[in-house]
Amino acid sequence: MQTIKGSKYTIVPSIDEKGFWEGIGKSFKNLSQAIWEPVDNSISNLLSNPKSVRNIIIAFERTLKGYLIRIEDCGTGISELAQAFSVGNRNNQTTTLNEHGYGMKNFLAFCDSTNSAWAIYTRTETDRPGTYRKVSAPYSTIGIKVEVIDEKIQPWPGSLKGTGTIVEVEVSQTLFFTLRDRGGGTALDAKCFEYLCEDLGFVYSTLIDEHNIAIRVDADAIPDGTRQIKALRPVGEFYKELENLDWTFEGRKVRVDISWMDVKDQPGVNRYYRRSARCSGAEIRLNGRVIAYNLLDEIWPRDNHPSTNGFLLQANIISSDRDVLPSTDRTKTALLESDPKTQSLYDWIRKQCPKLPKAKPSELRELDMFNRLSKKIEKFYKLTRPNAYAETNYNVYRCYNSNIKADMRFYDGEAVVYYEGKKGEADLLAFYQLLMYWDGAVADNDPPTKGILVGDGFSPGVKDIIAYYNSRLDARGHPYFFKAQTWNEAGLED
Ligand SMILES: Nc1ncnc2c1ncn2[C@@H]1O[C@H](COP(=O)(O)OP(=O)(O)OP(=O)(O)O)[C@@H](O)[C@H]1O
Ligand SMILES: [Mg+2]
Repeated sequence: MQTIKGSKYTIVPSIDEKGFWEGIGKSFKNLSQAIWEPVDNSISNLLSNPKSVRNIIIAFERTLKGYLIRIEDCGTGISELAQAFSVGNRNNQTTTLNEHGYGMKNFLAFCDSTNSAWAIYTRTETDRPGTYRKVSAPYSTIGIKVEVIDEKIQPWPGSLKGTGTIVEVEVSQTLFFTLRDRGGGTALDAKCFEYLCEDLGFVYSTLIDEHNIAIRVDADAIPDGTRQIKALRPVGEFYKELENLDWTFEGRKVRVDISWMDVKDQPGVNRYYRRSARCSGAEIRLNGRVIAYNLLDEIWPRDNHPSTNGFLLQANIISSDRDVLPSTDRTKTALLESDPKTQSLYDWIRKQCPKLPKAKPSELRELDMFNRLSKKIEKFYKLTRPNAYAETNYNVYRCYNSNIKADMRFYDGEAVVYYEGKKGEADLLAFYQLLMYWDGAVADNDPPTKGILVGDGFSPGVKDIIAYYNSRLDARGHPYFFKAQTWNEAGLED
């Protein structure tokens, strides 16, 4: 259609209803990402109203086609249905979890491309007592059907009492299987639920732990039929944990909690916080909700080295001012790289953590201790023996071009002493490292006089094995000479 007025005219674009629905349906990579949208909406509503109970139930019911999914919350319900169903409408948003005005519609269209098998049920304080409203398919920009339903005739289809909302949609078995592991892992329903629960525990961990959000998944294929989602947290050793830092963008301060660590694999966790390339890097949360993770090249210039496996940086950006938060993409599964706020945030993160650490935190601490020890004993010995010289991270088995490094080699002017140290208890593995340094030094024709194992304490067997090796000869036919010393005895008191 066009309106002609002089030499200028106006065109009036229209929306092709079918194409529109199919188009917004192509938003997510898998069902899990799609489910985060109605969950975001429920959390947003629960956070912004004073009720202390914050329950969300995601129920799966088997159907001939696949599953009927119902996502229910005990929030305030939706009073402005027309606004909620408008696309891009941002008038009724409550927290920063409501960003684009698309999520619920994207979710329904992704799950039900035929626009025939979805419904929203909602109950608010202003609904006539004993009634609720149901909005159901098809979606149309011309009009969508809303029914006011008497609970006596058709009971509320969920299990929570009082006000709240249910988002309901039927998905095919094929779509359900997008929950499975990437790379075509076995498609067992029970396994798919396990992945979904893990995803939810990962994405919402901070909100579950710190904001009392209780998410439950119900399905027959889950053992006992139900699973309360627990926050998934990484385990490992922290390099640094910093809370309440300020990141400033164009003069406006935003609070950031940031930490980085060397993660350890956890039993029973499939997708996250593992020592692998696809789990390492930075994880960015906006007000507790994961938006992006596995960011490496985006933030740090790097060589693609497996030593970054295990490196995890977590940054939670906290602000209720949506103008200062970096923008997310329309599906909230990435930060928009084109947003200057994103680039400024990455620069700020790089300032906090300029380099990806190559060694583990404990190794760095030990190296730091040896650096201090080397300075101390070198200074002390130099008084009488000017040639005394200590070197940390000393390469042995050079004859084989190896990369093996002894913690410290100390030449006291007469004797050559090799060190291996552990913060905490030194164990047998640590001793055998020292033995290897000894053999490596002999092979390099730089034979030690003594090998010292340093620790806060020693595991059972360490002193026996030391005594045993001290009665044996090395490759030159000279006796080994090992000693165990505490950090204090080695010359580092603290
Ligand atoms: N469970 C709910 N309880 C209360 N209000 C809701 C609920 N779900 C949706 N709404 C209302 O519907 C609106 C539209 O939701 P929708 O997910 O489509 O967009 P949005 O959350 O505003 O933005 P985004 O695209 O970032 O998700 C929300 O802003 C909110 O006002
Ligand atoms: Mg939303």
